[in-house]
Amino acid sequence: MPQTDNLPSPESLLALLKSRRSIRRYRSDPVPDEMVEQLLEAGRWAPSASNRQPWDFIVVRDEAIRQQVAQHAAFYFIKWAQVEEAPLLIVLCGNVRNRFYRQFLHEDVGLAGSQIMLQAKALGLGTCWIGALDRKAVAGILKIPEHLEIVGLLTVGFPAEDPPPTSRKPLSEIAHYDVYGNRVDDGDATPGQIPAGPLGILLRRFRLPFRV
Ligand SMILES: Cc1cc2nc3c(=O)[nH]c(=O)nc-3n(C[C@H](O)[C@H](O)[C@H](O)COP(=O)(O)O)c2cc1C
Repeated sequence: MPQTDNLPSPESLLALLKSRRSIRRYRSDPVPDEMVEQLLEAGRWAPSASNRQPWDFIVVRDEAIRQQVAQHAAFYFIKWAQVEEAPLLIVLCGNVRNRFYRQFLHEDVGLAGSQIMLQAKALGLGTCWIGALDRKAVAGILKIPEHLEIVGLLTVGFPAEDPPPTSRKPLSEIAHYDVYGNRVDDGDATPGQIPAGPLGILLRRFRLPFRV
């Protein structure tokens, strides 16, 4: 039997997932060390392809360095004010050295980032994922080596706003059962065909009895 003591109930976990909002206004209070450690711990326990854990988390608290990073956290000329305001930034980096595993990098680091955001919510902290930033400039400021790619940046701090719920597409628009397009879970679906690649076309042309 898996250990379930002290785990949140399914209902309370779902309530936590639903109540997390991107926070763009922060109080200036610093985030206590024990909380920072819990955030990193949450990221560390994320799943990753072959358990390679291809991430590094850079915790930026120094005011001067944060402000430099904030200058390069922008979508063209629109700067994200929350990066200037948040007392803590966590820069999520992924190791690009392995050519094969590089294909899973964004999933791996994205999952770690998601776990950090949810742990932050559980701690009463707010976060916002910042994707639009000048990665080259930020890498330079933070002395990030070449083999690491900045996947995202999280602003972290005690919220100074309580944003209204954001919308989500209804399940009826995004869920399919057994095969794409089947909107009801009636066990009545038939599978499609595997598209033939160039090898399949060749084998079929010469009537060779292989399935590709
Ligand atoms: C990959 C990714 C990139 C994002 N980039 C930005 C960003 O650059 N600036 C920003 O203010 N919010 C950014 N966000 C936050 C989204 O706008 C936000 O998650 C979305 O609007 C849903 O709102 P919610 O997080 O409050 O549910 C990003 C979120 C993700 C997942």
